[in-house]
Amino acid sequence: MKPKLFITRELFPDVIDKLCKYYDVEVWDRYQPPPYEVILNKAREVDAMVTLLTDRIDCNLLQQAKRLRIIAQYAVGYDNIDVECATRLGIYITNTPGVLTEATAELTWALILALARRIVEADHFVRWGEWYRLKTGWHPLMLLGVELKGKTLGVIGLGRIGSRVAEIAVKGFGMRVIYYDIVRREDLEKALGIEYRDLDQLLQEADIVTIHVPLTKETYHMINEERLKKMKRSALLINTARGAVIDTEALVKALREGWIAGAALDVFEQEPIDPNHPLMAFKNVVLVPHIGSATYEARHAMAELVAENLIAFYEGREPPTLVNKEVLKVRPPGFK
Ligand code: NAP
Ligand code: GLV
Ligand code: GLV
Repeated sequence: MKPKLFITRELFPDVIDKLCKYYDVEVWDRYQPPPYEVILNKAREVDAMVTLLTDRIDCNLLQQAKRLRIIAQYAVGYDNIDVECATRLGIYITNTPGVLTEATAELTWALILALARRIVEADHFVRWGEWYRLKTGWHPLMLLGVELKGKTLGVIGLGRIGSRVAEIAVKGFGMRVIYYDIVRREDLEKALGIEYRDLDQLLQEADIVTIHVPLTKETYHMINEERLKKMKRSALLINTARGAVIDTEALVKALREGWIAGAALDVFEQEPIDPNHPLMAFKNVVLVPHIGSATYEARHAMAELVAENLIAFYEGREPPTLVNKEVLKVRPPGFK
């Protein structure tokens, strides 16, 4: 008998077909995520799961999942999973690093450019007839933004995505780049000509601040009121990492009181964000619905990587992108 696999949302059919050769697959086929109770009940019955960042996989659920051996997360971030608890229970956790780096770095640049050149505001100006009503045509002072060349980009978290964003800044836009991370990356400092700063120094110096750290206990509300006050009044803040790295209430205050010049967000503390949220009122804020990895290329490669991890595990091999390596000491890979 094949091991049972529950997938919490529809993936690409070719990848599902591939998985069906190894697993008895069940897919949650609604557009909305399965409720916690549904995931809990499935987790009690299956040997393997594919989860999304919207699925809360806590220790309560993991402890009741007596047959569950592997969770293949369809994302690089895995802050929705209690990894420590899974490791103790001998449950393998895999993620999808690398294959979405380009997509997420490119979205970050789309947001930076959208803010710097007021693209969303300008589109509304045309679309809703304001340009036509005002009969402005071309005006020297209309919708002015800021240039990137020569400005300073501050990258928080110089990992896969952060370092690609930094590379594009240097090579593509002729920007100066400073970064903050828990580890110094002297190789990248040399290769890209970028410099390390501590977080507070980075916030004081940067014209544009972009966040690329994972959400952890340490990074939760890392950008709080005190830190927002350190930023330049002309600075722009970009977040394509996780919503809770920023204290949203503090950000609203910062925008209201003009401590910073604008923000672009792909991720939120509450997803989906309430359309009545105070953030909606600002013209100098760009909001997109967690689409960092949303290219055909990245999403398909993520699905392929999920399958590779599940197939490796099935064959008793170490999954290629295993998150909790310590689990190898608790239980060998495979269903035997
Ligand atoms: P990554 O390669 O692990 O990069 C994260 C970097 O942050 C690493 O250099 C890491 O250092 C550093 N870091 C960790 N904790 C830190 C702390 N407390 N202070 C300062 N730096 C810290 O991950 P990635 O692939 O670039 O992805 C980054 C994050 O982006 C993911 O975790 C995910 O949440 C988010 N993401 C969002 C989207 C989207 O759709 N918007 C798409 C992809 C990813 P160490 O390596 O030493 O831990
Ligand atoms: C998306 O947010 C991811 O972590 O892959
Ligand atoms: C603008 O369209 C210009 O020609 O400068």
